[in-house]
This record gives sequence, C-alpha cells and structure tokens, in this order.
Amino acid sequence: GRVALLFGGWSAEREVSLKSGAAVLAALERLGVKVTPVDPQRDNLHRLAEFDRAFVMLHGRGGEDGVIQGALEAMQVPYTGSGVLGSALAMDKLQTKLAWRGAGLPTPEFARLGGDWRPESVCGRLGTPLMVKPSREGSSIGMTKAEDPEQLRQAYAAAGRFDDQVFAERFVAGQEFTVAILGEQALPVIRLETPRGFYDFEAKYQANDTQYHCPCGLSTAEEAEMQALAVEAFKAVEGRGWGRVDIMRDGDGSNWLLEVNTVPGMTDHSLVPMAAAAAGISFDELVWRILTSSNE
Ligand code: DAL
Ligand code: MG
Repeated sequence: GRVALLFGGWSAEREVSLKSGAAVLAALERLGVKVTPVDPQRDNLHRLAEFDRAFVMLHGRGGEDGVIQGALEAMQVPYTGSGVLGSALAMDKLQTKLAWRGAGLPTPEFARLGGDWRPESVCGRLGTPLMVKPSREGSSIGMTKAEDPEQLRQAYAAAGRFDDQVFAERFVAGQEFTVAILGEQALPVIRLETPRGFYDFEAKYQANDTQYHCPCGLSTAEEAEMQALAVEAFKAVEGRGWGRVDIMRDGDGSNWLLEVNTVPGMTDHSLVPMAAAAAGISFDELVWRILTSSNE
C-alpha cells in the first residue's frame, strides 16, 4: 500500500526531524515502499486519509505528543509508534515522572516550578545541582543545570521560553545510558560519554566529542536489569511499537529513569540505529520493522 512519511513539522526539533525523515525516506525507497513525504508545516493534512499507513517521524510538539496521532486515528489511518495517550504522556516529562512514581519506578526527585515558588526552598528540598527542564520539549532544548538558587531562577526563565510547564529534578551524577525499544524488546544498551556537563543539544547533533559505548560496559546481569527497567518504564507510559528510554546510573549502581522518546531520532548521529546495528539489525531492517509494527 501507500505510505505517508511524516517529517518536519513545527516544533523546535524540526531540523532534527528533517534529518531523521530524510534517512528514513531513503531506507523506505530502498525497500521498494511507495512512500510520499508529508511535512505538516507545508502540506495539507487532509491528504493523509488517502494513505494506507503513516510513518511518523516528527519530533516534539505537534508530532510526537498525540496531536498527529489523534488526527490519524480520526482518519482511520494506521501509524507507527505510540498511540494518543502514550505519545502525550511521554512528551510531557513531568507527567511521565508522575506515572513512573505511581508505578513505583525510580525517577529523580522533582518539583514543578511556577506560581509563587521560591528557588531557595526548591534547592533546600531537592538539593543541588538540579536539572531544569521545559516539560514538553526534546533534544535537551531549554535545559540547564543549576547549582544554586540564583542559577535556578535563571534556568527557570530559560526553560520557560519553550514551555509554560517547567520542572527541576535532582541531578544524578553518574553514567548516562539509553535503551532502544523495538516491539516489546530492548536492544543493546548504549552508554554516552560527553565532556560537556550533560548530553545537551550540541553533544547530540553537532559535537564530535561525544563517545558512544556499545557494548556499554555493564555486566550481562546489570545490562539485562537496565533493559527490563526500560521496558517497564516504556509500558508505564503506554509506549508502543518503538521508542527509547534515557536512564542515569549513579555511583551506587542505582538506575534512575529520565524520560521516554516515542519518536527517537533516526539521524546518522542517532542512538536507536546504533543499538539496532549492535543487535545485527541494519538501518533498512529497522525501518521495515518500525513500519510493519504500526497499529491496524
Ligand atoms: N528527541 C530526539 C529526537 C531524540 O530523543 O532522539
Ligand atoms: Mg526527549
């Protein structure tokens, strides 16, 4: 049948989506799929009803957050990845953390900032350093680390430019990992190492100083434990099809869940393709498996 490949969009992650989409488009063409690129920023979405299936490669708000998924549901077009609820939950890091806490899963202590909040009391209660994040953004956009109340105030203002929902979470010192999920299965774990304070936008897409370790350096049992946690965390936010779960591991060997991405990057710098390769799954095979996992 005919496949619409959705990429681009309006979000702050548009540029990343254009890269992910171009890579997926090339793969679908190599696979002989009849594919039409659709960019919601340019194209009329009413056309979507003509397609047999949609491959969602939009990152961020308006594409990864349930909005497009709801439109596709209404048009009865099957699509890749998570449904409306899973997409909406995972796009919102604060709601994700509430869901995890409700499920008894480990996520760093946090506080929503806003209203008549006081930076001093947030620092006092959570300790420092803190990571300050816009709740519904991706690729680390708008995120900064705060060491004291004054920095927290500034970080809040910086995050507030991207979302009116901002939260602070306890910064976990330790190692950063990511676990790709394909179907119900976790792929090999990747460890990220960056000389910057954390894996920020530059480290993700621009810098050459980020190191990716796969095998990740954990023992087989530790890696299996992290993979199981990632699958549980993905299910707890109603994730479906494929995704990626970001996890910090502290010095005591405890794992802390940070977030779920329901439309992870598929650029040449991206992590899911890297994890798939480590599992012996080529980029084209990965794209095919995502496409055929769409809901019917
Ligand atoms: N939000 C970016 C695209 C990622 O998680 O890969
Ligand atoms: Mg994200």
